[in-house]
Amino acid sequence: YDDLLVLGIETSCDDTAAAVVRGNGEILSQVVSSQADLLALYGGVAPKMAEEAHAKVIDRVVQDALDKAKIGEADLSAVAVTIGPGLSLCLRVGVQKARNIAGRFVKPVVGVHHMEAHALVARLVKQELEFPFMTLLISGGHNLLVLARDLGQYVQLGTTIDDAIGEAYDKTAKWLGLDMRKSGGPAIEELAREGDPHSVKFSTPMKQHKDCNFSYAGLKTQVRLAIESRKINAEIPISLASVEDRCSRANIAASFQRVAVLHLEERCERAIDWAMDIEPSIKYLVVSGGVASNQYVRARLNDVVRRKDLQLVCPPPSLCTDNGVMVAWTGIEHFRMGRFDPPPPADEPDDIV
Ligand code: KG4
Ligand code: ZN
Repeated sequence: YDDLLVLGIETSCDDTAAAVVRGNGEILSQVVSSQADLLALYGGVAPKMAEEAHAKVIDRVVQDALDKAKIGEADLSAVAVTIGPGLSLCLRVGVQKARNIAGRFVKPVVGVHHMEAHALVARLVKQELEFPFMTLLISGGHNLLVLARDLGQYVQLGTTIDDAIGEAYDKTAKWLGLDMRKSGGPAIEELAREGDPHSVKFSTPMKQHKDCNFSYAGLKTQVRLAIESRKINAEIPISLASVEDRCSRANIAASFQRVAVLHLEERCERAIDWAMDIEPSIKYLVVSGGVASNQYVRARLNDVVRRKDLQLVCPPPSLCTDNGVMVAWTGIEHFRMGRFDPPPPADEPDDIV
């Protein structure tokens, strides 16, 4: 299976991404077109607008990925595409594109679960990573603790009861008047380096719940109140803030980040204990999803796994945030096990999906 060539397409949220990956894990190309400018302009994702943005660039993104890999559609072994979870209008753009190519060139299609792709890309990065392993997935829409027992066999140990951690980062960034042309996460990470993480007293979520679930809505509210009581005006961008004002914003960023990540640490530690009861042989904790590109998050979770005698596997940032490589790779994993759909008819109308 080392010679397989799989195209992966990802359009579940606000990035249009495609990549070509070989069966041995070699990344032949990786292309991402981000809607960050649109997001900054409108302050969030509107499904219809996001769909149009995907539709506008999908052909070019896929063609770029094929060109950079120096192959044509006919050389592909299969086309993998994210089929969920995500905004259905957006997902459809990717699925139509995948089925068009697969129909015209008679290629099998592999439908990929977005969160499974975030987890499995770790096996591309670290080839000796065998099942079973523990996974923490942290992104804008999801917060999951999953025991991966085998391909397609996942035990969910925890999820968020309201917001995901990435959502809390993004809102905090917005309320602090940070530059939203980047996503909120990296902006908070950067500003937090200037602040005192113990200066603002936020309480850790769900202390009294001895389970592995997450909650970030309450912390979001605590942050909003702290910002209001310090009279921070998000209309004034941080670049124009006074030294004092900047310092107070940095303190909030640092304190928020400390508690947000402390919540991850506590839940992770308990989930590892639970997982060990089910699968005592686990050796790795995989941390993936956009928030896993954060250096502070990585350092703190590294301490957790060391206490538990495990190893941390964290893909590089470009493979943690949404990308086509993880979709192509998950396509390869399933294809190898015979899990794929036959080529669609060549003349399939677009509105069928
Ligand atoms: O996985 P992803 O690209 O898309 C989803 O599936 O949601 O994750 C996006 C999320 C955003 O909330 C973004 O702010 C966050 O990941 N993120 C970060 C960092 N880089 C991206 N959060 C904290 N620190 C970062 N360095
Ligand atoms: Zn994602």
